[in-house]
Amino acid sequence: MLKVAVLISGRGSNLQALIDACARDDFPATIVRVISNKADAYGLVRAQNAGLDTAVVNHKDFPDRESFEDALHTELSNAGVEFICLAGFMRILNSDFVNRWRDRMLNIHPSLLPAFKGLHTHERVLEAGVGFTGCTVHFVRPEMDDGPIVTQAAVAVNPHEDASRLAERVLLLEHLIYPEALRLVAEGRVKVVGSKAEIKEATYSNTWLVNPEPMIE
Ligand code: GAR
Repeated sequence: MLKVAVLISGRGSNLQALIDACARDDFPATIVRVISNKADAYGLVRAQNAGLDTAVVNHKDFPDRESFEDALHTELSNAGVEFICLAGFMRILNSDFVNRWRDRMLNIHPSLLPAFKGLHTHERVLEAGVGFTGCTVHFVRPEMDDGPIVTQAAVAVNPHEDASRLAERVLLLEHLIYPEALRLVAEGRVKVVGSKAEIKEATYSNTWLVNPEPMIE
């Protein structure tokens, strides 16, 4: 059973998807700690409701990024964490921290990486007029929203929808692909080779294409 920490900063809907997955009997990972850098993150309530151990490591309590990340690392080590899932954790992590957890840390991003890294993804997707967008779970590398891709899901963009509607549709897929990525990793079926993640003995797909919603206004 892989011992996982989930790092959050806010709402925690992806955390909830991971909590629900880990509650299933056949799921090969367990959440041993939920850590937030914000004390008022709603995800902490979700974690407590599920009976999970939580901690707040507030970046504002530390003089610099290094000491914040050292405290984070201590918290993770004390909890016996083997693997990290970043789930809406909105702090950039230094390369020292990232390299300590190399190939042992996943992130979810609401776009089809490597396109649309960074913030305000859905607004930029609509602005660019692309036909498809989606979400990606990937191993974390020092560069933001970069690293070997484990799972992805795509949706057709409806040019008539607004960014919040698009975000909702993508979020539903995030909740599908994050547990699936964690399952693949925890089953030992993901091997990083160079800049790619290879899925061993793939008996189910790690990519999805979801039918478009009707485009008639
Ligand atoms: C999610 O949409 C996630 O993909 C995004 O933040 C949201 C967190 O929602 N993450 C990033 O943009 C990271 N670059 P949640 O707190 O409800 O899971």
